[in-house]
Amino acid sequence: MSKDLFDAAFAAMQKTHSPYSQFPVGAAIRTSDGRIFSGCNIEVVSYPEGWCAETTALSHFVMGGGGTITEIAVVAEKKAKCTPCGGCRQRLAEFAGPETRLHLCDNNGIVETLTMREIFPYGFDAEVLGKGAA
Ligand code: THU
Repeated sequence: MSKDLFDAAFAAMQKTHSPYSQFPVGAAIRTSDGRIFSGCNIEVVSYPEGWCAETTALSHFVMGGGGTITEIAVVAEKKAKCTPCGGCRQRLAEFAGPETRLHLCDNNGIVETLTMREIFPYGFDAEVLGKGAA
């Protein structure tokens, strides 16, 4: 059922621009109305200016109209079950709920599924600012 999400993440990974790390990553996001948005990591010669596959996928999600995220898949060619970095966990949590499923993959498909709550407990949230997302 989530095979199409894995396929989208895997296809996105083929578009990676990662000449410095040589570590291709792909990510895909599904919304509750069935749309899929994907992305790859994009590196820059000034290293800190590069960004992750999850962030590219989130950009496509927002520009595509946003919505409710129900599932996320991440695949890295050279590492099975590559987990989103800390910054991407915070970015994903901006748009995903605690029950949103996060699929960790290898090159053949989904290996393990976690929830956002499991991968990002005690994250900083907007409650402390006295406001929800605009
Ligand atoms: N990377 C991602 O795209 N997503 C992750 O979840 C972990 C790391 C990228 C960033 C960088 O381009 C490369 O992997 C090596 O750190």
